[in-house]
Amino acid sequence: MPNSQFSLHDRVALVTGASRGIGWAIAEALSGAGAHVLLASRDQAALEARAETLRANGRTADAVAFDASQESTIAEGLKRAYAVREKIDILVNNAGVGMRRAYTETTDEDFTTVVDTNLRGPFHLVRAVAAHMAETGGGAIINVASALSILGRSKAVLYTASKHGLAGMTKGLACELAPHNIRVNAICPGYVETEMMVQQRQDKAFHDAVLTRTPLGRWAKPAEMGGAAVFLASDAASYVTGHLLCVDGGLTVSV
Ligand SMILES: NC(=O)c1ccc[n+]([C@@H]2O[C@H](COP(=O)([O-])OP(=O)(O)OC[C@H]3O[C@@H](n4cnc5c(N)ncnc54)[C@H](OP(=O)(O)O)[C@@H]3O)[C@@H](O)[C@H]2O)c1
Repeated sequence: MPNSQFSLHDRVALVTGASRGIGWAIAEALSGAGAHVLLASRDQAALEARAETLRANGRTADAVAFDASQESTIAEGLKRAYAVREKIDILVNNAGVGMRRAYTETTDEDFTTVVDTNLRGPFHLVRAVAAHMAETGGGAIINVASALSILGRSKAVLYTASKHGLAGMTKGLACELAPHNIRVNAICPGYVETEMMVQQRQDKAFHDAVLTRTPLGRWAKPAEMGGAAVFLASDAASYVTGHLLCVDGGLTVSV
């Protein structure tokens, strides 16, 4: 679709957490819209296999493994990413960890892991990548937040706090980066069938509650997050910034 306003032809997209789940689905969708994708996670072998899948379909992709929760590993990973491609036009901060635990049972180690991965990492990635984007004329940043960026639930206090933080970061960055022609938006998924949710899907009470609570009456497939990412990354969203786009089957609008 080279002439479509949804085309990502000639754009380079870095997607964190692209080894599986939502990140891989978003990477596939961006690639399908014409972007060269840089696949990131901690697992180089898994990323190589994913990149090969895209190449086998006539697309271009590279694997760049790094831990997206630490400033030093992010800096080192980005060095390799910029060695492969000179620019990054689209950054998708998708890498994240879940945490289902009563707040009274949440440890300081949990706090560090969740905040480092879901909040600190995206902050450092944006700080490093946005500076380059500004030099190359702008870009699009997409944070993968959550329905729990808007709602709360018990036994997910730490995760909810991190995702509310990511939503706030999205809005603040949208304001601060707009003068550099960098748009910053978030996708807020509802319940998605990924590895992160295996335990919850096997828990009948939880699974049934998802079906009842979600107006569309089912879990999302990871691929259903792809269209929102293509839209937010593309010129079709040229006047959209600071937005939280819920892709949640109606979860956050129903009581
Ligand atoms: N599934 C849902 O229902 C749901 C709902 C709302 C929001 N979300 C959000 O969507 C995002 C993706 O979740 P998912 O469900 O696809 O989870 P997933 O299947 O568990 O995948 C998580 C991805 O993040 C990567 N990752 C985790 N920690 C990392 C780190 N320190 N450095 C680099 N990569 C790291 C993992 O890669 P490696 O293990 O290969 O490093 C993996 O690719 C997360 O931010 C999550 O909070 C998910």
